[in-house]
Amino acid sequence: PSILLDCDPGHDDAIAIVTAARCAELVGITTVAGNAPLARTTYNALVMRDLLGIDVAVHSGSERPLVAEPKFAAFVHGESGLDGADLPAPTTPLDGTDAVRFIVDSCRRTEGIWLVPTGPLTNIAIALRSAPDIVSRIAGISLMGGGTFGNRSSMAEFNIWADPEAASIVFGAPTRIVMAGLDVTHQFQATPERIARVRALPGRLAEVLADLFVFFAGTYLRRHDPGSIGGPAVHDPLAVLAVTHPHLFERVARHVVVETAGEFTRGMTV
Ligand code: BDR
Ligand code: CA
Repeated sequence: PSILLDCDPGHDDAIAIVTAARCAELVGITTVAGNAPLARTTYNALVMRDLLGIDVAVHSGSERPLVAEPKFAAFVHGESGLDGADLPAPTTPLDGTDAVRFIVDSCRRTEGIWLVPTGPLTNIAIALRSAPDIVSRIAGISLMGGGTFGNRSSMAEFNIWADPEAASIVFGAPTRIVMAGLDVTHQFQATPERIARVRALPGRLAEVLADLFVFFAGTYLRRHDPGSIGGPAVHDPLAVLAVTHPHLFERVARHVVVETAGEFTRGMTV
């Protein structure tokens, strides 16, 4: 399948980039502010492109949510968005600062692309609002976000919480939406054994990924009750795998709306 990945790397976004590059036809990467400010999530996407040695366009997009104030997640991913590894500086420049244009043009040019957002849904919402015709061109939207419980607030998951108005637009779009929420992503953990297996692989990429996982495990485990989780939940690749390896998942059909007004529940997927 063809995938356009819209992300905010982010440790688990980095793994989503690896997964999309290795298991799909990756038509491009667009970036959004989320785990870290846009300049940093974009820089991190460029670093990942180099580490993977792939020739894929990277376009940066929205610097802030549609309505909400920008709030980042340094307490999970560090100030850089990808703390924990010695990252090589990007060797090639950004392809453009026009992520929304790139998304729209790609969908108009090629039929059947999966949009795979793994950060706040700002870019995707603007693309859908400014070019509703792309809805009939895409295969669907496979996103990481939401769940029956929260991680940023008690009811809201970070990606939805960060830009609930954008999420509301996306969940209201008349297209196939696949939602990898916290219910499934918390089953996909970077346990110490799995991190050790990554570290044992040859090459610079594996070493960087293992270092990233170790950092991510540290912030994650500090925020959970001891023994309640075996390692950090590696959320974002599941939005990719739901497209490339659908047999790994159980799905249920649900109507989902996003709470945008609740005093205590803003950003909840209902
Ligand atoms: C989501 O929030 C981000 O911190 C992760 O990259 C993931 O996309 C999990 O709630
Ligand atoms: Ca993310």
